[in-house]
Amino acid sequence: MRAVLLRRTGGPEVLRVEDVPDPVPGVGESLIDVSLAGVNYEDLEFRSGRHPVPLPARLGLDAVGRRRGDGRRVAALLREGGGYAQVAAAVDAYTVEVPAEVDDGQAAALLEQGSTAYGALVLAGRLQPGESVAVSAAAGGVGHLAIQLARLQGAGRVVGLASTADKRRFVERLGADVALDPAAPDLVDQLRAASGGGVDLFVDSVGAGVLRSALLGLAPFGRLVCIGWRGRPDEVTTEELAERSVGCAGFWMRHVVDNRELLCAIVDRLFELAVRGDLVAQVDRIVALDEIGAAHAAMAARATIGKILIDVNREVTTPAR
Ligand SMILES: NC(=O)c1ccc[n+]([C@@H]2O[C@H](COP(=O)([O-])OP(=O)(O)OC[C@H]3O[C@@H](n4cnc5c(N)ncnc54)[C@H](OP(=O)(O)O)[C@@H]3O)[C@@H](O)[C@H]2O)c1
Repeated sequence: MRAVLLRRTGGPEVLRVEDVPDPVPGVGESLIDVSLAGVNYEDLEFRSGRHPVPLPARLGLDAVGRRRGDGRRVAALLREGGGYAQVAAAVDAYTVEVPAEVDDGQAAALLEQGSTAYGALVLAGRLQPGESVAVSAAAGGVGHLAIQLARLQGAGRVVGLASTADKRRFVERLGADVALDPAAPDLVDQLRAASGGGVDLFVDSVGAGVLRSALLGLAPFGRLVCIGWRGRPDEVTTEELAERSVGCAGFWMRHVVDNRELLCAIVDRLFELAVRGDLVAQVDRIVALDEIGAAHAAMAARATIGKILIDVNREVTTPAR
């Protein structure tokens, strides 16, 4: 089978497609003939070496395809990687069946990113009806689903942050009341104005720069939920939380993945919303395995809207001269 292998860390050019043997499933695992695999921001951290992994590594944290044992169409979270491949070994407990009404692209874009958005808003953020919500990287894979889910969970004012005018238009089309530029010098004032006095729940996946404004823009008793950061994580002191009567929480998918009942409840909700057409995942592009380097480069350049998927069976043909 063909798979992307990471033999050394570096730029997007280190990602190479190789012919390798099929993975051997362990106890409690099944082989999946992958149709679409997802690209996640964390893959860029593995590739660059910022988040070290044993090499050679198989990247790819989520995939959709047919389970070999029973031919069922499934979506799998691959905590140990291996999604950028034609065949993946998936832990059965981290695998869910995909309803017939949800296509592979929607399933692949919803599983990891949708569960993260839901976990941040509902489990960690304890969103209450009518509360104002702000989301950073709101046009991204997690962010664009968080904007829609905030609405669907009954939020009041919804504010999205995104770095370009194109992205901000997209975020407003998703249902945000206001889309803001995270680089605006008066971001704190803009957040307070857009949320009607202060943000009740801010979901941040960016850290540096945005996180400090997010804290300052919170309403009393507001909560900041951190799900990711670029570079070094920020420090938040108990003093700045106490002085503003605000809270700071975190969310990590590991704690959903390891709880089968919770994972299924969240995914059922996401798929139900998708079947009704209330939650729509945006697919930025679908690339071939050989185009994975360009896909990583686009994500690093902040040039993507929604989720990048890989059609692992598409061959790139060089045009004849
Ligand atoms: N906690 C968890 O369990 C969990 C699970 C999944 C993902 N995550 C985190 O959620 C975040 C979003 O993941 P994703 O896969 O959906 O990615 P993504 O949001 O589609 O892509 C990253 C976005 O981050 C923003 N960004 C801000 N500063 C950036 C920088 N210096 N370099 C690159 N991008 C920058 C960009 O949006 P703008 O240009 O609009 O700012 C960019 O489009 C990541 O931090 C990821 O690690 C956490």
